[in-house]
Formats: sequence, C-alpha cells, structure tokens
Amino acid sequence: MKRLRILALMLPLLALSACKKAPSDSADASASGDIPIGEFASLTGATASFGQSSHKGTQMAVDEINAGGGVLGRKLRLVTEDDQSKPGEAAIVVRKLISRDKIVALLGEVASSRSLEAAPICQQAGIPMISPASTNPKVTEAGDMIFRVCFIDPFQGTVLSKFALSKGWKRVAVLTDVKQDYSVGLSQFFKAHIAANGGQVVSEQSYSSGDKDFKAQLTAIKGTDPEAILASGYYTEAGLIASQARELELNVPLLGGDGWDAPALVEVGGKAIEGSFFSNHFSDEDAAPSIQAFLKKFEAKYGQKPDAMAALGYDSAMILADAIKRAGATDGLKLKEAIAATKNFPAVTGNITLNAQRNADKPAVMLVVKEGKFRYVETVSP
Ligand code: PHE
Repeated sequence: MKRLRILALMLPLLALSACKKAPSDSADASASGDIPIGEFASLTGATASFGQSSHKGTQMAVDEINAGGGVLGRKLRLVTEDDQSKPGEAAIVVRKLISRDKIVALLGEVASSRSLEAAPICQQAGIPMISPASTNPKVTEAGDMIFRVCFIDPFQGTVLSKFALSKGWKRVAVLTDVKQDYSVGLSQFFKAHIAANGGQVVSEQSYSSGDKDFKAQLTAIKGTDPEAILASGYYTEAGLIASQARELELNVPLLGGDGWDAPALVEVGGKAIEGSFFSNHFSDEDAAPSIQAFLKKFEAKYGQKPDAMAALGYDSAMILADAIKRAGATDGLKLKEAIAATKNFPAVTGNITLNAQRNADKPAVMLVVKEGKFRYVETVSP
C-alpha cells in the first residue's frame, strides 16, 4: 500500500520529466512543419578540410531548395554535427541526430572510416543515409538504407593503375595509411589491377594517420628503385611524404586518390608535390555547364572555389530532396525506395543513376599538381 502511495506521489514528477523532453520532441517533422535532415562532417580536427567543404556544398543546396519553396510544401532543416575527424565520434553524433533530432535522412561523411561507423546505425534505425564522397565499397554494403553519390575504390584503384601503366611506370611502390579503410582499400585495388596488367609492386609500406616521419618507409622504397609511388592516404600526410621523399632524393612522381583534394596538399607539399597526380570526382577546369554554373554560385556565396567534396555535398542534398519529392513522404522505407530509384539525375558531378549496389557509376578525372594548382589531365570512364 505504502509503495503504491509513494508511486502515486511520484507520478506527477514523472509526468513533469516527460514534459521536459518536449522541446527536443518539437524537432519532430510533424510538430515543427519542417523536415529535419541530418548531416555529420569533420568540421574540426585532422581532416577539417573535408567536412568544411562538404558542409558548404550541402548547406548551399539546402538553401537553394528552401528558397524555391522547399519540398512537399515544407522547408528542409539541416541539422549538422561535427565529428571532429575522430574515430568513435561519428557513431556518437549520428545516434544523437537520430534519437534527439529525429532526422528523416542522413548526409555524410566524406571519410570512409567514419561513414562505416554510421552506416550500420542508420541501417538499424531505418534512416536512409547518403554519403557524398566515401569511396570504400564496404560503406553501402552495410545495407539497403545506405547510398552514395560517388564512384567506389575498385574503380578508382583501376583508374590509378591504368594511368601509371599509360605513363610507362611499371615498377611501383605503395604506401598505405593503415588507420583509414579508404587508404587500405585503394591500395589493395590498385595493387590487384597493376599486378594483373604487367606492372609490379616493388615495395609495400605503411603508416598511421597523424604520423609525421616517413623516412624509414621512403628509404625502404628508394632501395627498390620504383618508377612511381602510390600514396593512397589523405592530403594530411601526402604533402609531408612528398617533401621527405625529395629530401631523400627519391624523385619519382607520387600518385594519390581523391583524398588528396585539399589546399593543404600544396601548402605542405610545396615544390615537392609538383608533378604528382591524383584521381578525383571533378575538376573546376571542366567546361560542363553544370560545373561552371556551380562554380559561379559557390564563389558568390563563399568567396572561394569549391573542391570535389563541396560539389558532392551539394549533389547528395539535391538527390535527397529529389527523392523526398518523388516519395511524397519522409518515412524511411518510402524514402529509401525513392533514393534507390534515382535515375539520370542532373548533378554537378555528372548525371547520377544509382546502381543495384546503391553506388553511382561515374567517370573519374586525373589531375596534376602544377604551380600549386590542380590542373585537369584527363577523364576516365568506368
Ligand atoms: N574518398 C575518400 C574516402 O572514402 C574521401 C574523399 C572524397 C576525400 C573526396 C576527398 C575528396 O575516405
């Protein structure tokens, strides 16, 4: 009896604490009228360049959509969380976006390792996720809720290998960042292709994100007399790798993937990175009207040139908005079906059709670092 009375006394308190939750519940789509879209990005930390760029592109798309009246007569509300480029943090912020902000879909991330943290969480929660730029194949293998608007690394690795062979570089060394799924995968696909096509991997070396000294690995590489080196990690280390290679008089060209795309590549690499090549999703020298129009809009808004992540961030948000329109709803299942049905969507980075694996089959571009700029070399189709 006594217990019951205590319980009865506590009931109003419980009700009160339930009420306290109301403000966060008001983030719910139906309550506030707008549509909450989540975004997680590395706005700070080691690869802040990735997150800041993709966020600018994403925000620009959302602003444009809202200026045009939104979707389904409702405004999109972008809720952005910073994962600080830290392992583990992506999972924390994505859970927050789902449970606290009641997002209907998630945009992000750039780095594959962080998308790989988020993908199973979204899959389980039934929240569609679109990665703008994560290229590791495992990301979308997490399940049918997970999409991306870029190509994947089996293709990117092939592009880099074909490029090396076309230059006559058959003896190649590979330097991998073992802390990044992206780098590990890209090296693996590059090696498999080049070894099967008349090339030879003469040295395989590795490092961990954040390392500053690559002399031991580069000395070992030099001893094998390569004609080129694939540095498959991010721009954060690629500039240093180039400088230290030149200090050791290892003067062969370096090759990289899309993870090189940041101003810091040349800020750190300086002269040492000149004449090196990397593959990417887009070139600002491309005369395609979609790219030129995007460049203009982006520069007017932010006073700087967009890079690949900015363009892909923009495309990811546009594709989501288009899918919400076609779905006529924001529930996860309908939204997932609509995203999966994306066909020939005129995006900045090319026409996007999502394939059965929920990836985009798109061409890549090869760029060369020349006088501190990324100059267009060629386009390679799948
Ligand atoms: N593709 C890289 C990854 O999967 C991320 C990236 C994309 C970086 C585009 C720069 C430009 O981790």
